[in-house]
Amino acid sequence: MVPVRPKLPRHVAVIMDGNGRWATAKGLPRSQGHRAGADAIDRLMDASLSIGLENVSLYAFSTENWRRPITEIRSIFDLLVEYIESRLEPIAEKGIRILHSGSRKRLSAKVLSKIDKAVEVTRKNRNLTVNFCLNYGSQEELLSAFGKLLEDRQKKRIGRGKPVSAKELEKYLYTYSLPPVDLLIRTAGEQRLSNFLLWQSAYAELFFCDTLWPEFDRKSLESALDWFAGRTRKFGGLENE
Ligand code: IPE
Ligand code: IPE
Ligand code: MG
Repeated sequence: MVPVRPKLPRHVAVIMDGNGRWATAKGLPRSQGHRAGADAIDRLMDASLSIGLENVSLYAFSTENWRRPITEIRSIFDLLVEYIESRLEPIAEKGIRILHSGSRKRLSAKVLSKIDKAVEVTRKNRNLTVNFCLNYGSQEELLSAFGKLLEDRQKKRIGRGKPVSAKELEKYLYTYSLPPVDLLIRTAGEQRLSNFLLWQSAYAELFFCDTLWPEFDRKSLESALDWFAGRTRKFGGLENE
C-alpha cells in the first residue's frame, strides 16, 4: 500500500557512502562492503517502488574514485557487471527504467555494453526511474556540457556570441530527462557533496545520516522522506507565497 505522504520529492539523489567502513568494522575486505552495498540498492529500489517515488539517482562511482587502488576499482566494476547480469531481469519486470549519468571515457567496453543494455531493455518502463551515476562528477559533466554546446552552436551556425541560458545548457547535462533534485541523502556521517549533481541540487534539501550504506533500509528512507515533508521550501522567495 502506498502511504499518504503529502510532500514526496520528485527526485531523490543518494550518495551511498560507507561501504568500506562497514566491511572494515566487520573484519571483511572492502569488496564485501561493496557487495553488501549492492543488496542495499535492491532494498532501496523496492522501497522506492512501494512508496511511489518517481526518480532516484544513485552515486555509484565518481570521477575521483579512480584515485583508489586498482584492486578496489576492479572489484567495484566486476561487481557492477555481475549486478547487471543477475538483476536486470527482475528490475525490468518491476517496471524500473535504468539511466546512466557519467562520462563514457575510461569505462571498459564490457562495462559500457552492460550499461547500454540495461538502459535499452528498460527504456519504456515508467514505474520508477533509477539513474546510476557511474564515472560521474559534476565538474566533468558541466565542462563536457559546455564543450558540446559550443560545438553544436558552431556546427549549426547558431547562437554565435549569444549568452548561454540555463535551459540551453541543461540539454547537454547527463540528467537532461530528470527534474531537479528535491532531496539529497548522504549516508555514513560525511557532510559534503563530493562533486555530485551540483547544478541539479541547487535547491535540494540536504539530509545527512550516520547509517552506513549497507545498513540503509526502508526505515532509513522513510525517515529521510518524513524529514523532507516537514521542510519549508522557498526557492529564494518568501514563505506561503
Ligand atoms: C561508497 O563507499 C562506495 C563508493 C565510493 C564506490 P566507500 O567505499 O566510499 O566507503 P568508505 O567511505 O570508505 O567507508
Ligand atoms: C562519494 O563517496 C562517491 C560515491 C558514493 C560513489 P566517496 O567516499 O568517494 O567521497 P569522499 O572521497 O569521502 O568525499
Ligand atoms: Mg566513502
